[in-house]
Amino acid sequence: MSQTEPVSVNELTLEEKASLTSGNSTWRTTAVRDVVPALTLADGPHGIRRQIKGSGDALGLLDSVPATCFPPAVALGSSWDAALARRVGAALAREASALGVDVVLGPGVNIKRSPLCGRNFEYFSEDPHVTGVMGAALVDGIQSRGIGACVKHFAVNNQETDRMRISADVDDRTLREIYLAAFEHIVREAGPYAVMSSYNRINGVHASENHWLLTEVLRTEWGYDGLVVSDWGAVNDRVAALAAGLDLEMPPTRTDQEVVDAVREGRLDEQTVTRSASRLHALTRRVASAERFEDWDVGAHHELAREAARGSAVLLKNEHDVLPLPSLSRVAVVGELARNPRYQGFGSSHVVPTRLDSAWDALEAAGASTFAAGYRLDGAADDALRQEAVEAAADSDVALVFLGLPGEIESEGFDRTSLDLPGVQVQLLRAVAKTAPKVVVVLTNGGVVSVADWEADAILEAWLPGQAGGSAIADLLLGVCSPSGRLTETIPRRLADVPSHLHFPGGDGHVVYGEGRYVGYRYYDTLDVDVAYPFGHGLTYTRFEYSDLDVTETGPNEWAVECTVTNAGTRAAAEVVQLYAAFDEDRPTRPRHELRGFAKVELAAGAGTRVSFTLSGRDIAWWSVSRGGWRIDAGPFAVEVGASSRDIRLRASLTAAGDGQVDALGRMSTLGEWLDHPVGGPVLRERIGTKFTDADMPPALLELMRNIPLAKFSTFGIGLSAEFVNGLVAAVSG
Ligand code: BGC
Repeated sequence: MSQTEPVSVNELTLEEKASLTSGNSTWRTTAVRDVVPALTLADGPHGIRRQIKGSGDALGLLDSVPATCFPPAVALGSSWDAALARRVGAALAREASALGVDVVLGPGVNIKRSPLCGRNFEYFSEDPHVTGVMGAALVDGIQSRGIGACVKHFAVNNQETDRMRISADVDDRTLREIYLAAFEHIVREAGPYAVMSSYNRINGVHASENHWLLTEVLRTEWGYDGLVVSDWGAVNDRVAALAAGLDLEMPPTRTDQEVVDAVREGRLDEQTVTRSASRLHALTRRVASAERFEDWDVGAHHELAREAARGSAVLLKNEHDVLPLPSLSRVAVVGELARNPRYQGFGSSHVVPTRLDSAWDALEAAGASTFAAGYRLDGAADDALRQEAVEAAADSDVALVFLGLPGEIESEGFDRTSLDLPGVQVQLLRAVAKTAPKVVVVLTNGGVVSVADWEADAILEAWLPGQAGGSAIADLLLGVCSPSGRLTETIPRRLADVPSHLHFPGGDGHVVYGEGRYVGYRYYDTLDVDVAYPFGHGLTYTRFEYSDLDVTETGPNEWAVECTVTNAGTRAAAEVVQLYAAFDEDRPTRPRHELRGFAKVELAAGAGTRVSFTLSGRDIAWWSVSRGGWRIDAGPFAVEVGASSRDIRLRASLTAAGDGQVDALGRMSTLGEWLDHPVGGPVLRERIGTKFTDADMPPALLELMRNIPLAKFSTFGIGLSAEFVNGLVAAVSG
């Protein structure tokens, strides 16, 4: 892409401007004369998928130039390490640049509403805060080299089932607090050059043709000034999409003439076309200043992928400190996945790696000598393989059992139907557990699996760890470093416990988000539902102590929070200190607590450090549908600091001043709302005295009346005329 002199898009013909609002081919935008150069876009979120020339169709998924396959978002998110994500982003940008790519199609920041979503491996978390922070860090890293990032899939694309047609039916408060929140954070904090609109509909309207989403929320409210590109094939109506605020259709459907005709026939404002064309032009100018590289250090990027995989694995369980392994001499390595790793998911994010480490190769190099495949990856029963593994395990001190989801079970394009591993793997684990003195399970999977009933001394959840995952797993098992990942999603005991279970994946064209804001731990913790492993959980080879919580009010609805974290064990490790805002209500009106901050701190044995956070009004706000805005209530709440959502170590009670906004009263406001209102209450009391509030009246009658809209007191003929009510409303209005 060559640098061009600034020329206004206004000078182009209508046909030229229309051509800019759609691509020229699957991965290239359209160039116009020497005014606007073409850009190259490529997946993806954890490695560059630059398709080989001549095979540029969207389905040539396995046919791309080798590039580093970094750990997918399921893993990178579990690192809770924004600095690491930034470094991975910068490395992605360097490879993009070397491969002639201007815009990287990632990160994916949709919320894990159900553990069954086939694409959960491409997403960070069930929680919008950790998603937003990790997504913003990746965007920052990519854009630090001037390459564009494209945040996707905007919005509410939380399943693969019927993803191109389904309507996600979600209430406004849930949209704002859960499904839009990470996008909002990234747009405001990291300024992504591009945002990708999703395939699905939101409350009946396709995301790519959704004016509310693409213009009112994204641009007017959040101030976004970048480009909106469709997901590949997500535009259904070119003209409606442009009018809604979509700038670029990919790949092209060769419908530019429809745009031109719509303008000529007065159905579309030419300004709309000019504006979208200008946004593409602005993007070409932004990326024109990107650092340009010929190549990258393949070894160094592989090492970064290994470091990222090490930082991402979550040690779920470690009884009697079976890990780290003191030696490999009496260890049996069991499981085909140790030799034949699963390290990334299938679909548009698939990367042809530059290298590939298997855990078995790494363990063998470190001294392991016994391997048995134990099962077939295609799930077919093979008693001889199992028997061989059971015998190897019986003859060992520790059986290292590698289990995970085969690629056929989880992928872009469809959802899983169960949380279970293939039967042959579960049977193998049961058989090995009966004979081996100790069992350590190493899991590789993109979405969480059932682990609750396993007989294992230790479980290391490595996720899909990218191309260097095998050696990273060996590093962790051998204690070269301590595991330091934490769960960004709850592992439920049973599928039936998942809050969206009865509403996922919907049918007949609609999926109703019936669980509302109670996604993941927001549900389990509010209702105290037993889980296998809670959100935020993860062990290390040491233990941390928390002390000296100090909370200072720094302004109205603003606090500085500090505490001390100390490594009280004998090994260096990292702790992820988590900050939650908590609301204890007998009858919950909001999740019991929500993550509002986190910090990953690396501490040598015996070392301690102060960790600080800020808590803002927005952190305790909720989206009020009636106000159409965020609302901060005056009143008590608590700040919690802990090592998981179920392991809160420190807690302080605070009082919020509230936002001071007073709701307007009207004829349909209830008696209770009038009486409790700071302005309306005194006016009403002055006019009616103790009528309807007399302490001599039966309490049930008082309560009954508090719930009646004032206007109905005249309708029912129980004491207030319509004129009186109108007069009251006039007295408190304006
Ligand atoms: C995926 C996007 C991807 C695009 C281009 C779509 O099917 O949903 O995430 O960026 O294809 O490959």
